[in-house]
Amino acid sequence: MVMQPANSPEARDIANVLHPYTNLKKHEETGPLVVTRGEGVWVYDNAGKGYIEGLAGLWCASLGFGEERLIEAATRQMRELPYYHAFASKSHVPMIDLAEKIKQMTPVPMSHVFFANSGSEATDTVVKMVWYYNNAVGRPEKKKIISRIKAYHGVTVASASMTGLPANHRDFDLPIRNIIHADCPHHYHFAEPGESEEEFATRLAANLEKLILDEGPDTVAAMIGEPVMGAGGVIVPPATYWDKVQKVLEKYDILFIADEVICGFGRTGNMFGTETFNLRPNMMTIAKALSSAYLPISAVLVDEKVYAAIRDNSDRIGTFGHGYTYSGHPVSAAVALETLKIYEERDIVGHVRRVMPKLQNGLRRYADHPLVGEVRGVGLVAAVELVSDKSTHENFDPALGVGAYCMARAQDHGLLIRALAGDALAFSPPLVISEDEVGMIVDRFGKALDDTAAMVGSL
Ligand SMILES: Cc1ncc(COP(=O)(O)O)c(C=O)c1O
Repeated sequence: MVMQPANSPEARDIANVLHPYTNLKKHEETGPLVVTRGEGVWVYDNAGKGYIEGLAGLWCASLGFGEERLIEAATRQMRELPYYHAFASKSHVPMIDLAEKIKQMTPVPMSHVFFANSGSEATDTVVKMVWYYNNAVGRPEKKKIISRIKAYHGVTVASASMTGLPANHRDFDLPIRNIIHADCPHHYHFAEPGESEEEFATRLAANLEKLILDEGPDTVAAMIGEPVMGAGGVIVPPATYWDKVQKVLEKYDILFIADEVICGFGRTGNMFGTETFNLRPNMMTIAKALSSAYLPISAVLVDEKVYAAIRDNSDRIGTFGHGYTYSGHPVSAAVALETLKIYEERDIVGHVRRVMPKLQNGLRRYADHPLVGEVRGVGLVAAVELVSDKSTHENFDPALGVGAYCMARAQDHGLLIRALAGDALAFSPPLVISEDEVGMIVDRFGKALDDTAAMVGSL
């Protein structure tokens, strides 16, 4: 970092902010990137340099950074009713409208919508609802929840336990009991030699069935999955994987939860990942693009079977004893509702379908690059994974920080992307991105890739 005066934002950041997902020691040396404003798919730092936001922030700012209609919706709602809650039968129209709208949009019938503020709160709520549900229906032993290695479901105690990434467990004393992890459906790394995608999917479904039988089907309550794994590396499962998995779950009366926090609202080229992969979830979690990230809001959707059991149990106990001060916050709800209207009016899914080939094909241009092991993705979400050996698919020693280096070089070239574990560089731009802007992402990334090859070559 260039030396900054003690009263600079950079120096004050280092002195005061404990950053999420950051090497805090290194941060003291390198300092922050201070972002001051945004417009469309671009953000600008405090020196005035512009960057394409290749990850829409954290896979979330779907309408980009200057959508006036969302600003107006928030302002209007702030003037009218800046806060109200939903406990003890209180309500307000923005929350009611939003719940109704979400239900109209989901591809499988959902009965009721519970609001929270983040993806983690939504998936944490799912865990509690699943436990509550099975107590309600008289199956107190049926409590285990299956997640998957490399899944990402958030960072609160239960959601981090479902997350299947070592950095989210290590030294946090996680996972908690009753959360188990099944195979990761990443053919590139976990297929047997010569195994086709179809055979791989069949084997994973058989492993899942064995896991359930070993644990005891009467003890397994639910399975949660992202249609496409996001933060674990943008892992697109084999075409028949979800079909085979769902058959196993149905056989043992195990609830299925689709975590749509990244995939929801157009990301995969359909309104929901549930459509892209033909899923039949009993519950869904949504967040991020629900409000284009302009304000925090998330939701858990439950089908009629789950809702009816929860409702009746709340009557037995006297209350459904769960909820947040800000559940269904009226300003967040108003912004989310406006976001969903914009998606429909501007046919956001149609737009994604038009521009997605440019991203997917553009990045695949680098498949032959000496550092690139796999280019993968669907819709407007993708990853380029860097490997030390293209024939064995072996990753670099994590201590070398090859992915982080590539991310930093991309930043130098005016492109913000994210290096995930295993040196996978992730792309998830605002859904409103133009074809030309996608082209800029691809070109700028190419420069970062060449810089990284030069660095690796000099090791
Ligand atoms: C699929 C999925 N679920 C849950 C979460 C957690 O969301 P949050 O960071 O809002 O708590 C994320 C965040 O990236 C996610 O990708």
